[in-house]
Amino acid sequence: MHNERGELSDYPNQRGNDRVRVANKEKQCTIVPFSKSKRRFLYPDIDVNPLESFKAAQKQGWAHFAPLETYTTPPAARLVKRSGIRTGDRVLDVACGTGVVATTAARLGARVTGLDLTPELLERARENSRTAGVEIEWHEGDVEKLPFDDAVFDVVISQYGHIFAPRPDVALAEMLRVLKHGGTIAFSTWPPELFVGRAFALVASYMPPPPPGVSPPTQWGDPTVVRERLGTSVNDILFDRATMLVPALSPQHLRSFTERTAGPMVKLVESLAFSDPSKLVTFRREYDALVAEYFEENMVRQDYLITLAKKI
Ligand SMILES: C[S@@+](CC[C@H](N)C(=O)[O-])C[C@H]1O[C@@H](n2cnc3c(N)ncnc32)[C@H](O)[C@@H]1O
Repeated sequence: MHNERGELSDYPNQRGNDRVRVANKEKQCTIVPFSKSKRRFLYPDIDVNPLESFKAAQKQGWAHFAPLETYTTPPAARLVKRSGIRTGDRVLDVACGTGVVATTAARLGARVTGLDLTPELLERARENSRTAGVEIEWHEGDVEKLPFDDAVFDVVISQYGHIFAPRPDVALAEMLRVLKHGGTIAFSTWPPELFVGRAFALVASYMPPPPPGVSPPTQWGDPTVVRERLGTSVNDILFDRATMLVPALSPQHLRSFTERTAGPMVKLVESLAFSDPSKLVTFRREYDALVAEYFEENMVRQDYLITLAKKI
């Protein structure tokens, strides 16, 4: 499954690296630089405070994510199981969204805290934990500035979440700071060469560039990069892979759902509808073609990477 360097070698669904390169090359010829006004539409305070402006856009985009929890619920059980959470463990779910990981861990008897940037999702997270009959401490906050003391959690976990923090080194340093020595850090991420990673790259190619210093979330899906980032602060690094299947009646059906729910797509469609409707048509055509490659029997296959490590 992974070689000694931690590189995944046998993704069954590994397609299209060359195609991505060709598509990007073709696009390099046609892309016109974004005007300042288009960039400001997405990041209004970019000149004053670039990173805060980026996070404000993230917060707005993710506010509509709740319906997607149906699909992130099964992978949450897998991540919680792989991270070995036990009764009584203190667990932090970073970028918890509607709390699917947090609630799953709390149902095992863990003492759980969930943190997310987006208040609308935390509202839903509260409702989810109440419905499940578990107590969870919820915090609105930023993974780059965790409001917790050093070394207080047994497990720090994030499902497709911390990857959206603009500065990976800052986010990871915070996650490791609040983790106890010997504790487990665990996260699920999207490999750049598979469906979600390619979709993120496609979306990004239609967006104005983010503020300087912002790293693409899909770098977290590359085991070599993950290993480098974790560095010497951890040992026992393990990589695993798994599949999320998303039902859809057609590629267009998935796209229209994603346009209304997934942060980066929400922001892209909002911005192109305002600035360049014909480009939006082209984007949608390209997106549908990408989905079609992973669409089979009314399911869209989304493979992901799980990383586990112990803090030294
Ligand atoms: C794809 S959702 C994942 C939600 C949840 N973990 C799940 O699996 O359903 C990404 C989440 O990251 C959150 N997020 C983005 N940037 C963040 C940041 N800097 N700090 C905390 N949360 C952040 C968003 O608000 C959103 O809830």
